Amino acid sequence: MRRGANPVTLEDCTMVIFGGTGDLTKRKLAPALFNLHIEGKLPPGFSMIGVGRKEKSSNQYRSELAKAISEHSFETWDEEAWAPLAEKIDYLQADIEEPASYPRIREYIAEHNTSRNPLGNELYYLAVSPHLFPPLAENLGLEKTSHTGSFTQGWRRVMIEKPFGSNLETARSLNKALCATFDDQNIYRIDHYLGKEMLHNILVVRFINTVFEPLWNNTYIDNVQITVAENEGIGNRGSYYDRTGAMRDMIQSHLLQMLAVVAMEPPAKASLDEVINNKLSLISAVRLWPENGPARNVIFGQYEGYNQENDVKENSTTETYVALKLAIDNSRWRGVPFYLRTGKLLQEKQARVTIQFKKPAGHHSAAISAGLDVENGNLLNLLTLKMQPSEGIVFQFNIKKPASVDEIVPATMDFCQQCAFQINSPEAYELLIADAIKGEKARFSSWEEIEKAWQLIDGIYECYGLSGLKSHLYKPGTWGPAEAEDMLSAQGLQWWV
Ligand code: BG6
Repeated sequence: MRRGANPVTLEDCTMVIFGGTGDLTKRKLAPALFNLHIEGKLPPGFSMIGVGRKEKSSNQYRSELAKAISEHSFETWDEEAWAPLAEKIDYLQADIEEPASYPRIREYIAEHNTSRNPLGNELYYLAVSPHLFPPLAENLGLEKTSHTGSFTQGWRRVMIEKPFGSNLETARSLNKALCATFDDQNIYRIDHYLGKEMLHNILVVRFINTVFEPLWNNTYIDNVQITVAENEGIGNRGSYYDRTGAMRDMIQSHLLQMLAVVAMEPPAKASLDEVINNKLSLISAVRLWPENGPARNVIFGQYEGYNQENDVKENSTTETYVALKLAIDNSRWRGVPFYLRTGKLLQEKQARVTIQFKKPAGHHSAAISAGLDVENGNLLNLLTLKMQPSEGIVFQFNIKKPASVDEIVPATMDFCQQCAFQINSPEAYELLIADAIKGEKARFSSWEEIEKAWQLIDGIYECYGLSGLKSHLYKPGTWGPAEAEDMLSAQGLQWWV
């Protein structure tokens, strides 16, 4: 469904996508640009240069993008609407691993700016394999010093995809390379989950509702579950994924961001700095659950058949699934387990947070004297915040079954965002690109958050020797290894789906 246009004035700019023929550009970036264009949210003087290794003409490139957009955009394909955007797109063949390519890249951008973007604003998007981030950052820097004359007055911003490093050390050196070329305020570090509408809605649900805010602590909450499940495997990303695994690919970034938003202290004022500081403090207080030993609190899984995927080592033990039991060492959350899980080739695609409230123990006696059956196990209050595929909030509470005398049954209040507002939330990448053009950083990770998250993940690996942890096999299309179910059932709990 097409969303209502809500044009904002954005400064004209040239977006240069390194990795312009790659998967990310085809599946996410080009559709996001098309959607923004259709909604009138791109500046009139916007143009794009795709940089890729293969030889092809700009016309060929435009046709490839058109095909990708028609397959991946949720906006209906519209040839007529595409034409004016297509005219603003060019292709440049260059080998970005070769420093000698950069003067030519610079020259091309400069010529392009002269005809299309006199303001000279430039937005670089690094949509390439992570091992190319550091040399790319460095070469953009070299080119800057040796060709200062060809720069105009405009701003230069860089958007960089995750993974931001593969551990604390590599993340620090990448950050150093980027900061040698760009001011920190011009570096937009992407965690695309921060572009998901419902993540920001969690803050509103928590803090702007009297019925939830006072209960958001260990007096009332029994446990919190965060699930990001995918129903697809690793596709053609074997060489990256096999070196990375689910813990570093998903937990270090997306799930920790979700956890931080769910559990951080309320910001005293609605300022970005305060939100970032509170998220930072929260991430600093996260620990692996201190009891029972790591083998019970970290479950690694691997889907059957993973070893036969392209570019995966024959006997790889890389985890395609991880479930964790975490603790937050502060007074609000002491004693409340946070269960996180993520995996590939699971039963369905979904991202959600479920807050399980404590049973109303103090009121049992009143319910029992009223003749109600309180032992049937259904006395739960669950608040589920659904981020994808559909967005919504479901609250489960207890009622007396109509026409029964003493039977208590669960009932739900179900808010479906699309049903209520008849709109799809913008795709994460649309919001992120528009924000970077606006110079708005609220939906990007700060360096400090990334650093803290790596400290946590590296710390867990080092303290508990996780590198040797066995991955339990699971069948594709299930919810992961049985050991992850046991982790909860041992506590009388279950994963909510
Ligand atoms: C990426 C991971 O950051 O997020 C991928 O590298 C994963 O492995 C993807 O598939 C999931 O994103 P989404 O938006 O589809 O949940």
